[in-house]
Amino acid sequence: MRNKILLALWLAASGPMGCLAAPGTITIQVDRPTVSLPETLYGLFYEDINNAADGGLYAELVQNRSFEYHSLESKNIQLKLEGFVDFTPLSAWQKVEQEGGACNLSVESAQPLNDNNPHYALLRIVNAGKGVGLSNDGFGGISVEKGASYDFSLFAKRSASPDAPLRITLRNAAGEAIGTATVPGISTKWERHTAVLVPTETAEKATLEVVTTGAGEVCLDMVSLFPRDTFKGRNNGLRNDLAQAIAELNPKVFRFPGGCIVHGHGLENAYRWKETVGPVEARKPNWNLWGYHQTHGLGYFEYFQLCEDIGAEPLPILAVGVSCGFRKPNEFAPLDEVQPWIDDALDLVEFANGPADSRWGRVRAEMGHPAPFNLKYVGLGNEDHDTPGFRARFPIFVKALREQCPEIKIVGTSGLGPKVPLYDCMCEQRVDLSDEHYYQPPEWFIENQHRFDAWDRSQPPVFVGEYASRGNTMYNAVAEAIYLTGIERNADLVQMTAYAPLFARYGFTQWKAANLIWFDHKTVVRTPNYYVQQLFSLNKGDVYLENKADFGAATNLAVAASLDKATGDVVVKIANASGQAVETILHLAGVGATASEGTLTLLAGEKTAANTLEQPGRIQPVASRIKVGKHFAYTIPPMSVQFIRIPPGR
Ligand code: AHR
Repeated sequence: MRNKILLALWLAASGPMGCLAAPGTITIQVDRPTVSLPETLYGLFYEDINNAADGGLYAELVQNRSFEYHSLESKNIQLKLEGFVDFTPLSAWQKVEQEGGACNLSVESAQPLNDNNPHYALLRIVNAGKGVGLSNDGFGGISVEKGASYDFSLFAKRSASPDAPLRITLRNAAGEAIGTATVPGISTKWERHTAVLVPTETAEKATLEVVTTGAGEVCLDMVSLFPRDTFKGRNNGLRNDLAQAIAELNPKVFRFPGGCIVHGHGLENAYRWKETVGPVEARKPNWNLWGYHQTHGLGYFEYFQLCEDIGAEPLPILAVGVSCGFRKPNEFAPLDEVQPWIDDALDLVEFANGPADSRWGRVRAEMGHPAPFNLKYVGLGNEDHDTPGFRARFPIFVKALREQCPEIKIVGTSGLGPKVPLYDCMCEQRVDLSDEHYYQPPEWFIENQHRFDAWDRSQPPVFVGEYASRGNTMYNAVAEAIYLTGIERNADLVQMTAYAPLFARYGFTQWKAANLIWFDHKTVVRTPNYYVQQLFSLNKGDVYLENKADFGAATNLAVAASLDKATGDVVVKIANASGQAVETILHLAGVGATASEGTLTLLAGEKTAANTLEQPGRIQPVASRIKVGKHFAYTIPPMSVQFIRIPPGR
């Protein structure tokens, strides 16, 4: 009888011609929950690579605003990056001399704004003419919108003509003024001045010009232009569209600020969080081992604030006095000089969680956040190489954190690649989570979907903190989805995951194979991989349900199922990396009744299909209502990932 019903369903579903192959079956045991799916399972990994920060998420439109860029030629950047153009203190700036104007423009350091910001522009006015000054073209042009407000600011002083104003002008690509403002007068002392610009037209490649008349010397620093419309309206804020794209991923953990930049190209270059907090003009910039410069305008305070804004647990990563193993020489802070690195970890906890009158809590409070950020995790090390130096230092950090901040969960590093060379060290240290990374072809993710099935549960849980299948096609996305079904099945062990890298700006890209979100000055391209991350997060559910799938001869399919306790929905996730549609019948066992209608969210496309600047929406999820029940037929489209929600019966 049961078979007859199924056959009837099958015939109804397979159309008038029928289908010769027997349908596959997916059986979900709704009464057999297995593991809880942790709140933190789907997260993000953010690194300033591919101009993810300056020229990316950080909304500043002026490039090299504080004249701190310098040549990186001698830095021996290992990946001599394709299209790498070296830097000077005047990168992105041009001298402006209007009708009879003449001046000398140089970058000086004799009377700096502060020690962390030692350089500034000096204009020596030879002949004022109609005006002399400088102009900035941002990151390949400044993009502005007609009618929107832009906040301009700078620090300036001058030796003479205190009443001569600064004229601030936005110009379009044809050189026409499309927005002006005036800073009325400049004293002989460094002072901050502000103005608001409202463009009269939209321009994608505008420049920002600052000119003056009068005589003498004019010093300029921290020349800045921000859209008023930042994410959540924050000062010194984030680009709204990019921050929105990450918020829509529904991330529950946010690992930052890297990646390789954390431990640096030699220890001198390591990311030291203390240099990234406090007033922006007093932060210490650093060169970025991905081949450019970072202002640290997007620093630790802004990262914590973003986490709060998007509801993700912050997971800051700190170097353990060991530089990046990929860059030679691999440096180690001498053991008797490792204390400042340990202090960085302990003080960070105070910065995030300490009372507003503690040393570092006060810095946070003065930045506008007296309440703690409620930091729960600290990451020690990033994909470190397996060296005696690392093995000697890591335990010292663990001990210090355990003793002084016992409430903090320690995320250690398993080292490089799926063979997790440092996992034994993490086991020995009993870290709370061990962070493993791999960039592999899509087939690897399909073949290794059972990686965690037989993992020794007595050892520390796992954070898959960086992974990607080296491509942004539909096939890559499906391969990653298949891997995620294996992770959900093993979510008692794997408690966090994050795709990597998160961002890439077209034309400023060092990591080309695959990134989750691509963008230019105005367009955000969500990849098929992005939608897989988003849909898995939005459809996670609370507890995994035992299930069994039999697709006969069809291969490269995988299934996960969970129960969403809030709605009572059974959520079935199916990934099909084959080129064939697969007829199947879903059975919900161990359940009284279900609703007769549910929802289907489907991501499907040709194997090589990808989203591009020209066609950002080629692949995107489509939601629809479908007939469901305790038994129902469903055709799994080729190259697809789907999420079927089956609500409970009444
Ligand atoms: O995600 C890009 C890089 O890959 C990260 O900086 C590093 O951790 C890994 O090698």
